[in-house]
Amino acid sequence: MLIAQISDTHILAPTSDHPAARRRVEGLRRSIADINRQKPDVVIFTGDTVQHGQSDEYAQLRELLAPLQAPLYLIPGNRDDNGALRTAFADKPYLPRNGDFLHYTVEEHALRLVALDSTSHGERKGYFCPARQSWLEAVLSDRPDQPTLLFIHHPPFDIDDHYVGGYRQPEEAAALADLVGRHPQVVRLLCGHVHCPVERPWAGTLASVMPSIAVDVRKGVDEAEAREQPIYMLHRLMRETELVSQAKRVGAQ
Ligand SMILES: [Fe+2]
Repeated sequence: MLIAQISDTHILAPTSDHPAARRRVEGLRRSIADINRQKPDVVIFTGDTVQHGQSDEYAQLRELLAPLQAPLYLIPGNRDDNGALRTAFADKPYLPRNGDFLHYTVEEHALRLVALDSTSHGERKGYFCPARQSWLEAVLSDRPDQPTLLFIHHPPFDIDDHYVGGYRQPEEAAALADLVGRHPQVVRLLCGHVHCPVERPWAGTLASVMPSIAVDVRKGVDEAEAREQPIYMLHRLMRETELVSQAKRVGAQ
């Protein structure tokens, strides 16, 4: 099983006069073309798909994602608007049509995919409130022997000085670690949000944070050349629970 991950594209509307609008569009377009060449089984998108959660931005995003050949699984980031995202991607049967959260699971692959919505409208920080805790507990308890990939926009731990207390309450990040720690079938946590590559042991598994596709907001990749190139992730399942990850830089075309 091959999984491509994209994150933090922060796409703007075609009418935007933001200086990076065009670069962001081209970065995603080139990434999609490169991902198609890799022929992944699925593509997961760990949020901040657009900049302001506006419908004209989602229309632009849909057009950019249209050439993608593999099934796409989206979760919102703090820049997204759940209502607008739900409307723009109404054709995605996995996205709940009602309720407060865009959580879901995908069951038909060698790795079970569990997507957790960590956003709250208008808030920058991550949330893991009691309702989300109940949902994740039930989902992970349901198939304890099935190797599982968890993805969440907000990393639930501090990263250097620039990302401290990324969740509304430290207790919520601790509750997430405690819950996942009790479910050892989780082979990896994948996140976005901080726009820089990070990897660390967490809750008995490994947590990986990918850099932003949008190069103008990327952190932690200083080389001038790298800042010009979109970077996405490829995660290949080698054995039942062995996931090997590679950062893929999209070359000039
Ligand atoms: Fe972001």
